Amino acid sequence: MRDKTNQRTDAYGGSIENRARLLLEVTAAVVQVWGGDRVGIRISPLSSFGDISDSNPQALFTYVVEQVNSFHLAYLHTIEGDTGGAREVPGGFDLQILRRLFNGLYMANNGYDLDLALAARAADTADLVAFGRPFIANPDLVELLRIIGPLNTPDPATMYGGGAGGYIDYPALKAS
Ligand SMILES: Cc1cc2nc3c(=O)[nH]c(=O)nc-3n(C[C@H](O)[C@H](O)[C@H](O)COP(=O)(O)O)c2cc1C
Repeated sequence: MRDKTNQRTDAYGGSIENRARLLLEVTAAVVQVWGGDRVGIRISPLSSFGDISDSNPQALFTYVVEQVNSFHLAYLHTIEGDTGGAREVPGGFDLQILRRLFNGLYMANNGYDLDLALAARAADTADLVAFGRPFIANPDLVELLRIIGPLNTPDPATMYGGGAGGYIDYPALKAS
């Protein structure tokens, strides 16, 4: 969707409407099968992974959220900041505009720990918080967050490929 990457000159490139078209067509097709209440979308409006950027991400993603509202989706999952990196949001971009505009649940992601997640709920800046890396390293993450138990630290060396090591062998608290 973002204009640094999308160089198309057909109906799927150029204007914001065109760049959002594929997402909306896919969403419509999936919703037709499963119903909007069983479908969510995940956006990375600010992530630079793969050298991606957009000249006006607020306008692009505002349009996307306005359009997906017609599907009455279960959730909008948003990577806040740079995926797996800084949570900073550049000036001129406001994630809460997207959240307020969306007519379903807003799921926040990126660099959350228990305290940050609870703070987000207390400040009502998110309805749900998604954890990625903590789940890789902690098979019993939900229970550990509940009892405020000690978390295993994920090892980046075993992420992104390789074998099963680093995905199936972190100990649960009860086992260790
Ligand atoms: C090993 C690994 C693989 C990932 N693969 C993807 C992916 O294929 N697509 C994607 O959108 N995000 C991917 N992510 C990003 C995560 O979904 C998540 O947004 C990111 O880790 C930030 O959340 P966290 O701080 O809770 O881990 C991946 C992250 C990790 C650590």
